Amino acid sequence: MVFAGRKPSTREPIFLSSLVAILVVCVLIVLLQGGSEDDVCDIGGIPAINAWKFFTKRYDFIQNGFQKSGGRIFRFKVLQHRVIAMAGEASRKAFFNEPGLSFLEGYKILLGGAPESKDITLTEGEIQSNVEEADFVKRLSSLIRRDRIEAALPFLLEDLDKRLKNDWGRQCQIDPFKHGREAVFQMTIRMATCQELAEDRKSIDQLMEYYSVLEKSATPVSLLLPWFPGPAKKAREKATTALFTLLFKFVKLRRQAPEPSTDAIDLLIGQGHEDQSVAGTIMRILFAGVTTTSVIFSWILLRLASNPQWKHKAIEDYKTLLSHHGDLPSELPLHKRLAVIPLGAWEDQLPSVELVLKETLRLTSAGSIIRRNVQHDITVDRVVVKRGDFLTYQVADAHLNPEIYSNPLEFDPERFVKGRVEDRKQAFAFIGWGAGRHPCIGMRMAKLEIKLLLALVLLGYEYGVVDGSGSFPKDLPLPDKNDNNQASLPFQRMYSPS
Ligand code: HEM
Repeated sequence: MVFAGRKPSTREPIFLSSLVAILVVCVLIVLLQGGSEDDVCDIGGIPAINAWKFFTKRYDFIQNGFQKSGGRIFRFKVLQHRVIAMAGEASRKAFFNEPGLSFLEGYKILLGGAPESKDITLTEGEIQSNVEEADFVKRLSSLIRRDRIEAALPFLLEDLDKRLKNDWGRQCQIDPFKHGREAVFQMTIRMATCQELAEDRKSIDQLMEYYSVLEKSATPVSLLLPWFPGPAKKAREKATTALFTLLFKFVKLRRQAPEPSTDAIDLLIGQGHEDQSVAGTIMRILFAGVTTTSVIFSWILLRLASNPQWKHKAIEDYKTLLSHHGDLPSELPLHKRLAVIPLGAWEDQLPSVELVLKETLRLTSAGSIIRRNVQHDITVDRVVVKRGDFLTYQVADAHLNPEIYSNPLEFDPERFVKGRVEDRKQAFAFIGWGAGRHPCIGMRMAKLEIKLLLALVLLGYEYGVVDGSGSFPKDLPLPDKNDNNQASLPFQRMYSPS
């Protein structure tokens, strides 16, 4: 869910006046439209109201649509855009495999992508067009090559150790969504920038602040009326400029360095990219990887807290890993003992952690994946998808489908083990890391980041979950299916008695 889910704030009064204008236009559009050219259910509705629901309560909106259509594929409008909601195995296969369905166009228009360098107000000449998707994927892949991750491992652990010592302390209450995010942000900076920045806490905190402003500035108004000069647009432009300016500072610093290092910025410079383009790449990496990874980490902590047998298994995994690879004196700090474990072992020798991660991902990724048909008309599962149409597929259609997963709402990591392998019952039944033409490029990195942070927490702390008032809640909260990122659940805090 790369560019999706910067959840809009629902309290923007200016929207009401804009809504009236949009309503008029959209009613006219509806009246001027002809009937449907195939037998797909059109759930109708006023496009502006559809749009509002689509941007604020997407999961509920699509589920209601399926109720109206009797579970069949259906169509609706978001402003002037025609959207088709897909369901079932056949459409899923086409959705992920069809070459004419564009990943970038889907997110760019319908969900508002990561900020672009065109949003910044820097001096002329400093602004450059946005990094193209294919080029971006190539650059990202070069930065997170296996050997580079392996070399970065001890630094990532060192960074995390500092974070935990300084910000979490020995005994603490933390909000995993906030603190987890900061820790993942730190790791992303380490992987995607340079040593100077990765060790400059003040600049990282500033970048984090701008990043958070940008996420929050994706309000319904900014998505529906991107040209509207409201507060969200202004905040977005200001934060984009500030973020770029700060990143430029470090890119320039590296460009002027007498010797190139092996850090990411130097690698990108060495590939011949301009400063703006290097900064744009870093920005895109932050938006692709930070929230996605930290949200899954946070939910793993919560799931483990309510499933002690799996918490125990995960801890045992880590202890075994340490005993097999960390033949070092036990008085050495934990992060130093973990740092000698090779990348291959982190990847292959944590079987229970791996299962927990996959099951958490299955239960947490309930959002929508979007595509746009940018080539010619195609037919998917007997539905005509015209050039220009958007398609949306709800991950829950696969992940929470009782025909694929038994008791789908239950946390049951064993469902993936040999003999059950429920995720193989249908094509693309597990799409937590994407599938087909656009699998997640950052999966290896994301998994490692989660496993490193989890190692330090599970081996370094005892923890339980308390609510905002500090008491232990009877039930743990569940993911909010309308909020893809579930990025702020302030009532959840971790507690470490020793
Ligand atoms: C737990 C963390 C993550 C999850 C759950 C996740 C999930 C996904 C999913 C589901 C997709 C496919 C989206 C679609 O089909 O529309 C995707 C694509 C992508 N992810 Fe991730 N991701 C994570 C972390 C990362 C990280 C850390 C990076 C970068 C460092 C990253 C970079 C990308 C990119 C570039 C794509 C698009 C690939 C393309 O254009 O073909 N992701 N991710």
